[in-house]
Parts: sequence; C-alpha cells; structure tokens
Amino acid sequence: MCGIVGFTGSADALPVLVNGLKRLEYRGYDSAGIAAFDNGGIRVTKTRGRISELERILRGQPDFSSACGIGHTRWATHGEPTDENSHPHLSHDGRIAVVHNGIIENYADIKARLIKRGYSFRSETDTEVIAHLLDFYYKGDILVALAKVMATVRGSYALGVLCADRPGEIIAARLDSPLIVGLGDGENFIASDIPAFLEHTRDYYTVDDGEIVCLTKDSVTVYNSDLEEISKERMTVSWSIEAAEKGGYEHFMLKEIHEQPKAVRDTVSPRLENGRIFLDTNINDDFLQDISRIHIIACGSAYHTGMVGKYVIENLARIPVECDLASEFRYRDPIISGRDLCIVISQSGETADTLAAMREAKRRDIKTLAIINVVGSTIAREADYVLYTWAGPEIAVATTKAYSTQLVMLYMLAVRLAAVRGLLDAHTEKKLTAECLHLPEKIEAVIAQINTLSYLASRFHNHKDIFFLGRGVDYAAALEGSLKLKEISYIRSEAYAAGELKHGTIALIRNDTLVIAIATQQSLAEKMVSNIREVKARGAHVLTIASEDTRQMLSEVSDDIFVVPSCFEKFSPSLTVVAMQLFAYYIALCRGCSIDKPRNLAKSVTVE
Ligand code: AGP
Repeated sequence: MCGIVGFTGSADALPVLVNGLKRLEYRGYDSAGIAAFDNGGIRVTKTRGRISELERILRGQPDFSSACGIGHTRWATHGEPTDENSHPHLSHDGRIAVVHNGIIENYADIKARLIKRGYSFRSETDTEVIAHLLDFYYKGDILVALAKVMATVRGSYALGVLCADRPGEIIAARLDSPLIVGLGDGENFIASDIPAFLEHTRDYYTVDDGEIVCLTKDSVTVYNSDLEEISKERMTVSWSIEAAEKGGYEHFMLKEIHEQPKAVRDTVSPRLENGRIFLDTNINDDFLQDISRIHIIACGSAYHTGMVGKYVIENLARIPVECDLASEFRYRDPIISGRDLCIVISQSGETADTLAAMREAKRRDIKTLAIINVVGSTIAREADYVLYTWAGPEIAVATTKAYSTQLVMLYMLAVRLAAVRGLLDAHTEKKLTAECLHLPEKIEAVIAQINTLSYLASRFHNHKDIFFLGRGVDYAAALEGSLKLKEISYIRSEAYAAGELKHGTIALIRNDTLVIAIATQQSLAEKMVSNIREVKARGAHVLTIASEDTRQMLSEVSDDIFVVPSCFEKFSPSLTVVAMQLFAYYIALCRGCSIDKPRNLAKSVTVE
C-alpha cells in the first residue's frame, strides 16, 4: 500500500505535497519522492527513506518551487526500497512522470515488450512500466494515452500523472486502489486518502474504478474509460484529521482488522494461476521436493502462525515440522541437517531474535525461507528465499492483518509442497486452492458479526484471568487469541492444549472463571465437549468459538457460542482469530486501554 498526493494551485506545491505525504506516511514509509513542473519540464526529487529525508533534500534546493506537482510515499512491492525504485518514475525523455499505488500483475510481460521496442528501465518496479507505456501510447493527448494504458495493464492502480506538454495539469486514474479528488478554491488535489488535503479543504470527489480525472487549479473534469465526461457527487468530510488517518476507525487496530480480507486477497491472488498455487519464481519444485524437515522459527504472533503452519504442512505435505521460538532456537545448539529448511516468519523483518536465529541456521548451511511483510527488510535481504505477504503497513502494535496474511502464506506453501510431492490429486489441489481464494469473504462474514463480539466483550471485560483452550490448529489459534487479549487489555490469560489442562492447570479453574474454547475440528469435537464439561464441572463459564460444522455438538454444552463459517478445517484459524481479535479489541476498549500502543510494547522488537 502506498500513498499518492497531487496539488495544483497558486501556492508553492512542494510544502503542500510534503505535508500531504506526511499525512499518508501510515500507508508506506520506505521511500518518498515528488515531481513538479519546472521551467517547461518536470523535475523529480526522490529518495530511499522516510519523508523527512525527502524534506531535507528539498530544503537543499531553494531554487525549486512550482505550483503543480505529485508526490508518493512508498510501501515497496516490486523492488527493494532504493532511490531508483522510489516514485515518481519518468518516461525516457522525462516528459511524463507517474506515481502509483497498487500492483501491476502483468508488468513483466509489458516490460519485455517495451524493451523489445527499445525502451530501457532504471528500476525494478512495476510502476516504471506505466511511465514508458504512457510514452509509447502518447501521440499528443495524454488522456488518450492513459486510457490505452488502462486497457493494457492488469492489476490495481491509483495513478497520478504529469505531462510536460500540459503544465499545471494533473491527470489521475484508479482501479481497485483508493483515489480521491480534493476540491479547493483556486486549487485542487488528488490523494490516496483524505488526510493528505484535509487541512486545505473538506470537499472532495471519490474516483471510481475505470475513471480518469483531469485537474487544473480552477477545474476538475472526470471521464469514464471511454473518455466521456461524467458528473460526480460533491462530498464533504465530517472527520477530524486524526480520525481521517484511521479512515474513520477509532484505532488503527480496528482499521487493520477490517483490512484483513483485502490483505489476504492481495497475498493470495498474485500467486494463483489456472486454479493452482505457484510460489514466487525462484522457489522451484526440485527444491520443494528435496526438503527432509522444516523448522519454523519466529517470535510472538509470528510464532503462533508457525504453530498453525506445523499442523497444516504435516497434514498435507507429510513433512516433519518443528516450530521454535527464535529466542530458544538460537541458543539450544539445534540439531539441523543439510536437507532441512528453516522458515522464518516476521511482519517487520527486523526482529532481533528471529534475525539471529536465521543467521544461526545459515551458519550451519541450512536453506532459509522468510515470510515477510516489509519489503527489503533485513531478514528479507539475508534469507535465501522470500515470500512477501501483501498486508501493507501495519501500524497497531498488536498484529492482525499481517498475522492473517502469514497464515494464508503458510497454507499456500503447504498446498504447493503437497502438490509437488504428488500427495494431492488435481481435484483436491484445486479445492484447497479455492479455499485459500475464498477465505477473504469468510473473514468478512466474521467481521460482519462485530456487534455480537462487542456485546460478548462488554459482558466479560472485568474478568481477572481468561483461559483459551483448543486442540490441533484450534490450540495454535488459541495461543494467538490469548496473546491478543493480554497485550491490549492487560488481562492475565493462558492458552492451553485442551487435553493438557487436566494435568495441573485445571487447579486454577474456579467458580466463574472464563474459558474460551476453540472447537472447529470435527474429528476433535467430542473431545472438546469432554474438556468443556471438565471445566464447567469446576464452575467455569465457557464461551465456545465453533464452526458451522461443530456448532450443533458444541452449543449444547457451551454457555455462550460464537460461530464462524465452515472452511477446510485446518484453515479455520484464519476465521477464529478474527473473532478473537475483535473480542480482545472490544474488551480493551471497555477497559479504556491504549489499544494501538499498549504499555511496554513496541511494534518491532529489534533488541534481544
Ligand atoms: C503481536 O501482536 C506482537 N506485536 C508481537 O508478538 C510480534 O508478533 C512479535 O514481536 C514478532 O514481530 P515480527 O513479526 O515483526 O517479527
């Protein structure tokens, strides 16, 4: 996810663009840049690093001012964060500049065709393809050229374009990535999100898929994809700037919970072809077939996804999997051998223990595969193979959407491993692939029950300690549900393998203790009923999270029940975790906790 901004008016555009980008920094912050009209041409300033770095460079260019420009703050998808990969990107003659938020899925094919036509590329990005394709189609009308580009590319985009032949004008277009037009008095704006121009105007248009916009300081014209002018409804923002950065949500965590369907969809869809899963290019089938054992190594929530991954990979691919806390793995002189694979999982890609554990595996000549959300992060750069999750920037300390994309990445890896090992017939492979593809709408169905979860939280927010129980993948999901509750509501909580409780910890169960039982596995449902009866016999109040397939059996024995849609049951953590995220969120809200920045915690733990 990136942030784009544009301004055309009478004031100096540069500070307007930089401040607008700062308001969008939550959308991406690994590099930034601007392009503005300057003496008959277009001048670009861009750099790896935060927007403050761009600001520093601009301060060194006192001669540079302009009344019209576009800006970009990047969340890298194609190509690491470098100066060259930063936006804006220019056509070869520098007469067209482009900023882009989204992913062009067929960029490689278009790039190859352009290279055959003599175009050369300076960056690794998909966006630069758009700049050269605009040049290729440009015969004097940039709107016509843009319409042709939109008919050629596949994927998602919010685009801002400058053409040196039309000084003072900004051209923009969108498909699937957000884009809005700010309507000022003698000035107009484009942006990925309202905060970018909210200090200048509260009036705006939303740009819909396939529409093209042409802005001057005194006019805004909107066209459909046939370049027919269309009218738009003028809207007015009622939010404060701070609320607008959260897209109207009270907290980033709630916003990111709601972003999970899109994050999972963005992680899955680029890896599907003809109903089958294909991992990223350099991870070939021979390599996947040769793996003798897998070590999954991570911290915190990432470790919890690894626990789910263990069950799923062993179930589908029949490869033995060990799941280790990174802080333990690195000091226990692990027994690992040549054909083992070490999978490290990390949202930030900077967690010190995980990085150290990966280096320990590499020191022993073990291949390392990283599942990472931040492109170009340290772990991503040092791993032998990287599978990026496309969750976009995650601001809340308590991970939600990154966690969910890690889960689905592990499912896809398990399916691919099983397929290359001949363990899946074509029908089953397609069925499991479809299961991954349809998870987003099932996650949406859980989120749609938000009021039920808020109500349940209102009933239990004063409990002093809460237990989570589960078996199999439900136990792995319970680990995450317990951590979410602890880290944002500060309620003491433990997650236990349901069959283990009676070996000691059940001594803690007393009258009115809240036990949250996760029970989605049909083959284990009867066992869960027995475990629920055990704790109820000691006075516990049991809230069960069941699936459509287990609701009947579990509802009879539970005091409260929350039901998630049915799915391939080893993938059910993708659904139960959303219920537990929202349950924890609303408990923390009831308790007046600092939800996005919980006490004692940091988003990325870069120390031991
Ligand atoms: C999860 O909500 C926490 N923020 C924490 O456990 C986190 O998952 C852990 O520190 C690992 O971070 P990473 O994914 O960036 O490596």
